[in-house]
Amino acid sequence: MRLKLNVKRILGDLAGASLRVFPAETAHDLGMFLLKHRLARFLPRPADTLEVPHDLDLHMRIPGLGDLVHPIGLAAGFDKNAIALRGFEDLQFSFLEVGTVTPLAQPGNPKPRMFRSRSEYSLINRMGFNNDGHRAVYDRVEGSPLRIPVGVNLGKNKQTLTEHAISDYLKGLIHFKNLGSYIVINISSPNTPGLRELANPEFIRRLKSEIEMQVPELLKKIWIKLDPDLPRKEFIALIETITEERFAGLILSNTHRVTWPEAGGMSGHILSHLSSERLTWAYEVHRGALPMIGSGGVMSGIDVFHKLARGASAVQIYTALVYRGPWAVLHMLEEFKAEMLLHGYTRASDVVGCHYRD
Ligand SMILES: Cc1cc2nc3c(=O)[nH]c(=O)nc-3n(C[C@H](O)[C@H](O)[C@H](O)COP(=O)(O)O)c2cc1C
Repeated sequence: MRLKLNVKRILGDLAGASLRVFPAETAHDLGMFLLKHRLARFLPRPADTLEVPHDLDLHMRIPGLGDLVHPIGLAAGFDKNAIALRGFEDLQFSFLEVGTVTPLAQPGNPKPRMFRSRSEYSLINRMGFNNDGHRAVYDRVEGSPLRIPVGVNLGKNKQTLTEHAISDYLKGLIHFKNLGSYIVINISSPNTPGLRELANPEFIRRLKSEIEMQVPELLKKIWIKLDPDLPRKEFIALIETITEERFAGLILSNTHRVTWPEAGGMSGHILSHLSSERLTWAYEVHRGALPMIGSGGVMSGIDVFHKLARGASAVQIYTALVYRGPWAVLHMLEEFKAEMLLHGYTRASDVVGCHYRD
């Protein structure tokens, strides 16, 4: 019995490892092809190797996002164009985020633009919002009936001047207003010139007043995704404004800007501490009033526990899927349950913010 269980685990791990013999973006495209055709359904599912009791309550109810069966979702950028949503549902994610989508389709930066740093379980990317544009992504999301919440992550086109960026976001809000469980304003990717300059209180206030005039019903489901590189003072001022203006929540964080060994945004293990610290900085301001999603270096169930402990109600993963293979979510849930038990919790929702209480 034990041998059979381990073989299943090895098969899943091999499926991930075999893709890593290809350059990073080729491996990603191959993985997306497999997911689009829902081939993960034929991959043996790993059994619960840690043998943790199943009666733990992993359910999360997040205002402005929805009800989740557990706290692990897919981060933006993996399925930018919504081509494999059912495939990601097969991988047992509890919610998905498509995009970043821009009003018009655009090719992104020249390749190569995605790199692995294996020793650090990290990636560097400078994709530059390659995507099929609002219309195509809308049609695909609409055509994919799912049981789990889906969010749409919005950006601006490269050729849109930073001073006109607000109009690209409004186009997105209007286009997607009847679709999806939540919407993300992405002002945090490092690979679109001028985008991070939008992460300031003035832009947030302008955005809020435009939303109130044009799509007021959306405010309660609009999340703001921030970068981890803002200095503390600016970051705190921004969180104060986002809290005051009553957006739905925060996604913390996007990638960390680097220039070496490649220029771009770094994700994965090496980002973990930096992005968790941003959860703490934000919590200091809103004291739990604003829901947060933890993104950045969630590589294991222990990382899930720590993001929740620092105030996140859910996490999103990207890089872990690359290094831990197709069953990353199932492996991480087992580890998360073990960590919950170790700390004496039986409900995941009780873990949220425990770092500030215990
Ligand atoms: C190749 C790649 C492309 C990404 N594209 C986007 C994107 O289009 N929009 C976005 O908001 N974040 C994007 N991200 C950032 C992820 O959504 C996530 O916030 C970040 O990678 C940290 O999570 P991780 O450490 O689990 O990878 C991208 C990340 C990677 C590695």
